[in-house]
Amino acid sequence: MKLKLYYFTGTGNSLVVARNIGNEFAHAELISMTNLMCMDKEIVIAGDIVRFVFPVYFARPPAFIKEFIQQTNFGDISYIFAVVNGGGLFGRTLHLFNELLQQKDIRLDAGFLIGMPGNHPKVASMQRKGPEAYYAAAAVKTKAIAQLVKAKQPGKLESNWGLLGHVIALTAFQKPYQLSKAKKLDSAYWVNDNCVQCGNCERICPMQNITDSQTKPRWHHNCINCAACYHYCSAKAICLDKEDPSFRYNHPDVTATDLIIYNN
Ligand SMILES: Cc1cc2nc3c(=O)[nH]c(=O)nc-3n(C[C@H](O)[C@H](O)[C@H](O)COP(=O)(O)O)c2cc1C
Repeated sequence: MKLKLYYFTGTGNSLVVARNIGNEFAHAELISMTNLMCMDKEIVIAGDIVRFVFPVYFARPPAFIKEFIQQTNFGDISYIFAVVNGGGLFGRTLHLFNELLQQKDIRLDAGFLIGMPGNHPKVASMQRKGPEAYYAAAAVKTKAIAQLVKAKQPGKLESNWGLLGHVIALTAFQKPYQLSKAKKLDSAYWVNDNCVQCGNCERICPMQNITDSQTKPRWHHNCINCAACYHYCSAKAICLDKEDPSFRYNHPDVTATDLIIYNN
């Protein structure tokens, strides 16, 4: 039984979830969706079991994921599922993702939600538990998901927050989502005087959207909002709008070097 895991990650949570599910299978291949997109080749997905793992942004699949699915061709797949992770407000993300797949005549067999530490300051400030509690619960759920998938068991698409989640997605989150679709949310990033010109931001950006890191980093409006440049900034010099610059997050098992290797 061969598992293909397609992931998108900014701060490592999705990568760890993907790796942990992969570890439950004898044959699992981890594939970065951002890498595929940057290769400028036809993307074809086929296989025995295919899984997508990505974070929730603005109570929806990230705009990048929509673009990825629209550009992908699908072959024969016997079982397809998705795992979305995030700080707690998922709404109907998995249903929206399924609608994207249906435009390609593909349908999810199952879809799961996993709570993880929020990597956006606003999301993080609303979370009551510390990161360790999320990691412990995620490990338990990951094992349960792997068992269901091994049995190729069809399941429902999980959701939360009901109608309220949908309303938040279409009101408070509508403007940032539109900016995100236009790849312009990087206007919120700026650099303070602490920058040590280490070049991490330029190397880590999965979209090659950052230049001039040897002097003063510049973003070129091809941003997919993963926030890796902000969180992995070695001098905490990259700032996000007016948010507290002391808040930084990355999954402890995913260093900047790991991410540069995985995403490139
Ligand atoms: C631009 C942006 C928007 C986000 N929106 C949501 C959201 O609507 N709901 C939520 O629960 N978490 C939200 N988050 C938090 C991430 O989904 C969460 O931290 C996720 O685990 C990050 O995964 P990664 O480490 O693989 O990038 C958002 C994060 C970012 C950067």
